[in-house]
Amino acid sequence: MINKNLNSTDYETFINVIRKRRSVRRFEKGRSISRQVLERIAEAGRWAPSGANVQPWDFIVVEDPEMRDRVVEVFLRQADRLKKYAKGFPSVYKSYLNNTVAIFIVLGDRRWNINFPHGVTPESEADYQQNNENIFYCSIGAAIQNIQLAVTANGLTSAWLSGGGEQQTNDELSELLGYPPFLRAYGTIPIGFPAKDVSSRYRRPLQQVVHWNRYEAEKFRTDEQVQFYVDSLRPFAMYRNKTELSEWEDFEEKLGEWQEAFTTDRTNPSGKLPKLLPP
Ligand SMILES: Cc1cc2nc3c(=O)[nH]c(=O)nc-3n(C[C@H](O)[C@H](O)[C@H](O)COP(=O)(O)O)c2cc1C
Repeated sequence: MINKNLNSTDYETFINVIRKRRSVRRFEKGRSISRQVLERIAEAGRWAPSGANVQPWDFIVVEDPEMRDRVVEVFLRQADRLKKYAKGFPSVYKSYLNNTVAIFIVLGDRRWNINFPHGVTPESEADYQQNNENIFYCSIGAAIQNIQLAVTANGLTSAWLSGGGEQQTNDELSELLGYPPFLRAYGTIPIGFPAKDVSSRYRRPLQQVVHWNRYEAEKFRTDEQVQFYVDSLRPFAMYRNKTELSEWEDFEEKLGEWQEAFTTDRTNPSGKLPKLLPP
């Protein structure tokens, strides 16, 4: 029997790690971690799937306190720029990074994209080109996800920072860490011991996300719903410690007429679907 080793206990352990993985942005002070644990975490990243098995990543594991502090400084500057130039995005102060015990920097190397399918006619080229990008980003995301899960499985916690992918931040990191600037720090994962319990986070209900055998048009999220999220819900949905929005004390006040759309599988009762993206 193929599945003889996979039983419900395995699933429980597995799903618990997945549910426990959290972006925790507060770490305990004065802790340290062994290289052995960091290698176990890197091993999980190594086993991520990738398009054409090209493994287009490298992991820089910064554990030396002096180097770690310099990487943190790069991200403090990145956070300042975010506040200045990406106004309105509900980012948190990055001073918590000072208590990081190690930082994984996941570099992506786009040269490997030549291994993905390429169109050989002018008409097909653009189509394949776009999908090559998708394959690359998904591969990098899989590695980052594996790393974050392994962090959780080792009793630690982490965050997933994307700012290293910004040009200026990547330039500074490449200068500091010595990698060629055409590699890019798509994911940065500061690791620490959790200083607060963030056991949960908003997730859409399962019955809203899953479509059985066809796309269920009543589960389409309307443009207005997307807009409501960005205008009114985002900072709370990103940081509050509850899975269900209905668990919020101010649920009615925050959601107003959007309660049903965010808590049931009827986000689009008319079942009508637009054909095009809004302009
Ligand atoms: C591609 C990607 C980029 C992200 N970038 C950042 C980031 O730059 N800073 C940050 O604090 N969190 C970042 N996050 C974390 C998300 O905000 C977080 O995963 C989401 O709010 C859900 O919370 P949870 O991870 O605790 O479940 C990113 C997550 C992903 C998948």
